[in-house]
Amino acid sequence: MDNVVAVVLAAGQGTRMKSDTPKVLHPVCGKSMIRHVVDSAKAVGIRRVIVVVGHEADKIRSELGDSVEYAFQRQQMGTGHAVLQAEQLLDSFDGTVVILYGDVPALSSATLSQFIQVHTSSQNTATVLTAILDDPTGYGRILYDSHGCVSRIVEDRDATVEEKAIREINSGTYCFQKTFLFEALKKTPRGNAQNEYYLTDAIEVIWRDKMKTGAFRVGDPAEIMGVNTRLQLAEVGSFMRSRILRDLMLQGVTIIDPSSTFIDPDCNIERDVTIYPCTIVEGRSTICSHSVIGPFARLTNVVIGKHSVVESSTLLDCVVGDGAMVGPYSYIRPGTVVKDNVKVGTFVEVKKSIIGNDSKVPHLSYIGDTTIGESTNIGAGSITCNYDGKQKHATLIGNNVFVGSNTNFVAPVTIGDGSVIGAGSTITKDVPEDALAVARSQQKTKEGWARRRRDACEKD
Ligand code: UD1
Ligand code: CA
Repeated sequence: MDNVVAVVLAAGQGTRMKSDTPKVLHPVCGKSMIRHVVDSAKAVGIRRVIVVVGHEADKIRSELGDSVEYAFQRQQMGTGHAVLQAEQLLDSFDGTVVILYGDVPALSSATLSQFIQVHTSSQNTATVLTAILDDPTGYGRILYDSHGCVSRIVEDRDATVEEKAIREINSGTYCFQKTFLFEALKKTPRGNAQNEYYLTDAIEVIWRDKMKTGAFRVGDPAEIMGVNTRLQLAEVGSFMRSRILRDLMLQGVTIIDPSSTFIDPDCNIERDVTIYPCTIVEGRSTICSHSVIGPFARLTNVVIGKHSVVESSTLLDCVVGDGAMVGPYSYIRPGTVVKDNVKVGTFVEVKKSIIGNDSKVPHLSYIGDTTIGESTNIGAGSITCNYDGKQKHATLIGNNVFVGSNTNFVAPVTIGDGSVIGAGSTITKDVPEDALAVARSQQKTKEGWARRRRDACEKD
């Protein structure tokens, strides 16, 4: 792919989205549309990707950073004009230019790679990626000459009644031989319904110059759906989502209810994982084999080990080991490491903490900025008081510690290995190894007091 560069068009505003956000930055399946397009170009091995920006260029630059090069289109004068802005960057390049539209996010890298191969092996000057649609409304239509070469693409707005009846449409993905592309673009007229320079007109110029043009039809037309409205954004999203789930199921993941399961494309789910309904796995998450996730789980940028169970919980930017149990109703926040065979149970919030192997925080706790050692048990209702109103402080709890229920740890505080904390304690001082610490008021018991009160009430 060294003699292939990609040019991605993303300068348009996308008026039909009716949004303050530029169209190509709208997310679909967990990533902006433009990111999907750039990622699939990179996935086929194209190293140089040039993105043509214009409308809200800065926002697009901050999304893609320096993973791509940028060309700037000051005024949006059409797709042909947009491509011309990349000419200078390609000055010393001679090879194939793949054009992609930033608003066509579902094109798979497999299809893209096949398409480039077909273009190269047919020795075409220009090849268009097309699809046959039941309803081609809105798309450019493909016209052929008697030799089967593509002679022209006519835009929906400019089409005659007969042309509108053509069901083969332009996807907005093309391969061009670089030199002829820019020569042709300089010859394209502007006389169309939108008074724009159409990239599609370059095909006709190349055909008229007697060079070879062709089309490659995608197997599944859904792959080339263009997004112009939010309705189409949802449609393309639902197609991409089912494709991800389908691939995972064929790789050995059990998904009980695909209709209520959402998994982002860059997640890695190993075989024999079971995903229960109403579960969302986002970002770059990994779930290792034999773990059971859901129902009602949201996992964002997490790593979950093998044979772990996560039920009805939210986990963000954290790591969970093997054989762990999380939930129901746990909230595990960024920077947390839950190690092997740990239990984090019902109504437990953990923030930026490490919970060592075989330890348990089973019920109703808040653990923040804390390190807990191995085989330690935190009794129900215990919390770390990590915030003094100004600063956060750390709590260190050792190995084999038994913390009685409803303990408060006023941080900073350190609890030694093997110690025992009496239930209901508010611990403000360090506890040495193997000690018992109790910090609660003494119980007073007055024998017969309740009976005497009852008897007094009855006499009244
Ligand atoms: C375009 C095609 C049409 C095709 C359809 C597929 C042309 C003339 N028409 O129509 O044949 O069926 O896509 O989805 O190419 N852009 C710029 N600068 C501009 C204009 C557009 O960068 O001056 C970018 C947009 O940001 C967008 C892409 O080009 O990412 C396509 O533009 P859009 O206006 O959506 O074209 P369509 O009308 O959908
Ligand atoms: Ca479009």
